[in-house]
Amino acid sequence: MAKNKSFYICGECGYRTLKWMGKCSECGEWGSFVEEVEIKSGTSTSNINKKLTNINESSKKVFSFQDVIIEENFRYTTEISEFDRLLGGGLVKGEVVLITGNPGIGKSTLLLQLIGEYTKYGDVLYISGEESPMQIKNRGKRLGVTHDNIFLMSETDMTNIYEYISLKKPKVVVIDSIQTIYNSTYDSMPGTPTQIKECTMKIVELAKSLNIPFFIVGHITKEGKLAGPKLLEHIVDAVFSFEGEEGLFYRILRSSKNRFGSTNELAVFSMEEAGLREVKNSSEFFLSEREEKNIGSMVVPILEGTKVFLLEIQALITDMNIGIPKRIVQGYDRNRIQILTAIGEKIGKMNLGMKDLFVNVPGGITIKDPAGDLGVVISILSMYRGIPISQKIAAIGELGLRGEIRKVFFIDKRLRELEKLGFKGVYVPISNKKEIEKNSYKLKLIYLKNLEEVIERMVE
Ligand SMILES: Nc1ncnc2c1ncn2[C@@H]1O[C@H](COP(=O)(O)OP(=O)(O)OP(=O)(O)O)[C@@H](O)[C@H]1O
Ligand SMILES: [Mg+2]
Repeated sequence: MAKNKSFYICGECGYRTLKWMGKCSECGEWGSFVEEVEIKSGTSTSNINKKLTNINESSKKVFSFQDVIIEENFRYTTEISEFDRLLGGGLVKGEVVLITGNPGIGKSTLLLQLIGEYTKYGDVLYISGEESPMQIKNRGKRLGVTHDNIFLMSETDMTNIYEYISLKKPKVVVIDSIQTIYNSTYDSMPGTPTQIKECTMKIVELAKSLNIPFFIVGHITKEGKLAGPKLLEHIVDAVFSFEGEEGLFYRILRSSKNRFGSTNELAVFSMEEAGLREVKNSSEFFLSEREEKNIGSMVVPILEGTKVFLLEIQALITDMNIGIPKRIVQGYDRNRIQILTAIGEKIGKMNLGMKDLFVNVPGGITIKDPAGDLGVVISILSMYRGIPISQKIAAIGELGLRGEIRKVFFIDKRLRELEKLGFKGVYVPISNKKEIEKNSYKLKLIYLKNLEEVIERMVE
């Protein structure tokens, strides 16, 4: 008879131990261990003989490269083209996509809208462990998702889910959420690391063997991390996270992992009465409410995944009241701002020793692209010197410690986006000149070698 075994598992990294630990010796997380009971189904030596007799079964899972047939049009597409772009051009059959986000951000809304779109390929299944079929249908009515071939399943037992899907083979499946599903082989509660991991592995097995794509909703913790073992992200094919500030009507969906498309892609949606609506021209969206000329503000074309976003960088400098000077940064790496401020102080002859500095990127996006550096320093210098900058001019360039402006990648894409939005001119690194001159642009191109040249121009 199988013996129940109790152990502790780290919710962060999945590390197992027989004794409880305050701090995980593997990933260093505090208070992350939960007790779980596992029922061993038996992997003793007697089973090995049984396994050997199953060798024929195993060989069915081996294919020669030649035998693998690639289906054409193997991606399901929707009318929500921004979402398809995030997936890498549509949903791949058999892929498992994890969607995470804060409570109430719009995960179920998006998935119901998507499942409605996928009905054109056949029957689709929406499994919810959180809401009743009536609640889901009600939401569907509001969103205009009323297709007859959407099947709603109110189930949390993985065995029943497995059986139903194996039998009915729907075209697309949504599981809302993974934290509510459990595998009765294990004694632990739904939502515990073992349950989440085991159920996800079962889902992946189903997805791959039947070639059915799955969307799994995953809740996140207060700290903004995915609730459950980190290794969950390794098991699935793609991880998308929903971001957005409370009270604001727009939502950003970001891909942090994608086996069938590029990562760090970003799409903007607005949350409306009729559901999530894609914002195709997101640059316009981020740049609204701006004046002709501004002090302490500069627009930068930033690359997020494969798409360019025009974002505004704002700087504010005030006299310090007490203590040490503040450096408050939102939307940019704080250490990077310290470096850029130091370069600006040295080359631009600024003295910020007794000043508080605030840098902000409105819109909720955090810039990781170093091409934003030049825009940051220009905003700070403009604020420090009180020189207004035309808002029809943008800046592109990474800054070196000596103030040199370094070459950036994908310059053509960035310039095209600026052109599209009616910008008149742009500061660009001179090292990009050769590449830029291969094409023609309606923009006035201001080539720069270093920060000194920027400062000379600002005085003009
Ligand atoms: N009538 C409505 N008009 C506009 N927006 C609405 C309406 N009803 C709900 N919403 C929006 O939908 C959001 C809830 O969306 P949804 O239930 O899809 O989120 P969720 O991420 O699935 O949440 P949970 O984590 O609780 O499952 C609300 O926060 C609200 O912004
Ligand atoms: Mg929900």
